Amino acid sequence: MNIKEVYAEEISKQFQDVLTYDEVLKLIEKPKFREQGDLAFPCFTLAKQYRKAPAVIAEEIATSIQGSLFEKVVATGPYVNCFLNKNEISKDILQSILTEGTNYGSHHFGEDAAITIDFSSPNIAKPFSMGHLRSTVIGNSLANIVKKCGYQPIRINHLGDWGTQFGKLIVAYKLWGNELDVKTNPIKELLQLYVRFHSEVETKPELEEEARLWFKKLEDGNEEAIALWRWFREESLQEFSRIYSLLHVDFVSFHGEAFYNDKMDATVDMLKGKNLLTKSDGAEVVDLSHENLPPCLIKKSDGATLYATRDVTAAIYRQENYHFKKAIYVVGHEQSLHFKQIFLVLEKMGYVWGKDMVHVPFGFILKDGKRMSTRKGKIVLLEEVIKEAIKLAKQNIELKNPSLANKEEIAEMVGVGAIIFHDLKNERLNNIEFSLEEMLTFEGTTGPYVQYTHARACSILRKATVTDTSPIGLSDSYSWSVVKLLMEFPAIIKRSMQLYEPSVIAKYIMELAQEFNKYYSHVKVLHEDVEMNDRVALVRSVTIVLKEGLRLLGIKAPEEM
Ligand code: ARG
Repeated sequence: MNIKEVYAEEISKQFQDVLTYDEVLKLIEKPKFREQGDLAFPCFTLAKQYRKAPAVIAEEIATSIQGSLFEKVVATGPYVNCFLNKNEISKDILQSILTEGTNYGSHHFGEDAAITIDFSSPNIAKPFSMGHLRSTVIGNSLANIVKKCGYQPIRINHLGDWGTQFGKLIVAYKLWGNELDVKTNPIKELLQLYVRFHSEVETKPELEEEARLWFKKLEDGNEEAIALWRWFREESLQEFSRIYSLLHVDFVSFHGEAFYNDKMDATVDMLKGKNLLTKSDGAEVVDLSHENLPPCLIKKSDGATLYATRDVTAAIYRQENYHFKKAIYVVGHEQSLHFKQIFLVLEKMGYVWGKDMVHVPFGFILKDGKRMSTRKGKIVLLEEVIKEAIKLAKQNIELKNPSLANKEEIAEMVGVGAIIFHDLKNERLNNIEFSLEEMLTFEGTTGPYVQYTHARACSILRKATVTDTSPIGLSDSYSWSVVKLLMEFPAIIKRSMQLYEPSVIAKYIMELAQEFNKYYSHVKVLHEDVEMNDRVALVRSVTIVLKEGLRLLGIKAPEEM
């Protein structure tokens, strides 16, 4: 049941020819002050239509609305404010959460259609950057949200495993590298080789040509080149997969850029066939000047293909293989132009599904207000950051709850959860400041705070003597604030899906946790009276929704901490 919908239904019934149900629904808001009621309907639009004063219309509507879910409906100036029947509604909501369990809040509008989610996608032989962390965390959550809405998420890691940098890497490895070093510390070592290449090339420009030749060999399938490339890829992937398992993130496909090598000719031919390619300084491009965009580079003058060529090809491959209804790309906003271009190229090629492609951009992670840079070998290794977070979480637990069993495991849930929540509580386009200390406190708007609230609620449940009677309803103001939030959960999920915005859920569970803590400090849950059962049901409902909300963000909810 969605009470806003019931209210909209009641109102729109009376004005069918003037305002549709959807229009009414959009107009309904929350009153400014709690004392004014639970829902408000402003009458300005209707007033215009009927040429009457809004307050007069409000009066008319207020007297005509009935139903057991409404305690009273009053006109307050131009608004029709309704007070909901707390007992009825809390009874209903608690009952449905208890029966649906973690399914509460699910939707079916996805109708099982596939949505590809291209996310994380780090570059081989380079460190997993903070930007890739954001993409990983946001993409993983979106995949969970999409699923909760009834779609089939296809999680794709479009690894950056091809490009001229591999020519440089091969040259550097052959000159200065050794197998053991790479094996023991692949990414650090490969990055150092890459950095050394760039510093030595300044005095030895001939290295550049050599790198070009090795990349050419790689493209032509030279055995030595291929073997080295494959080895670098494997080693990097192993290192990345340690990060993915710490974050509990998985993929159905690791088809990276290299996978499309033998598929790009077909794309180029098709572009030619449709007369979409033009020459520009010897390169082949798709002209996008009508759309006021720079041309999309498809082939360099030396015949090499590009990032965009691979993305166009990948999109076609994915449509053929997964028949996606939507294709989502979770990539930093600095690549917005790139995605605009490739989506347009697909549409020009005549693919109607070109309009179903969505770039979901996000902002930077900053340290002391500056971008964290991986250049010049100065790197922040993400794995170390995560381990540090886990260590700090452990110290926190050691302080707060020294007798806790399986501290290691819980510290991991808390440390990782802190990093994820810190990212997802912000609207994704905002830049975020990275601070381990801040994200790990148990107070404030942090992951550990929500986890802690959940654990606290679980501990009440452990003490409660359970009886099986169904809820009869609660009517005090503290529980009402919590019930109202619980009621919003399904709509919150839908909104986060429509906006591709996990922060909608993060902000919501934060609010629920805060409201629950207020409740908990004012009300004796386990006091034995007729309402105890309902209060326990309320606490149980809160644990269900908090846990499910955290799960959608990719965060675990320990029962003790
Ligand atoms: N590897 C790229 C980078 O690190 C991101 C790839 C994003 N996905 C895509 N299909 N282009 O910048």
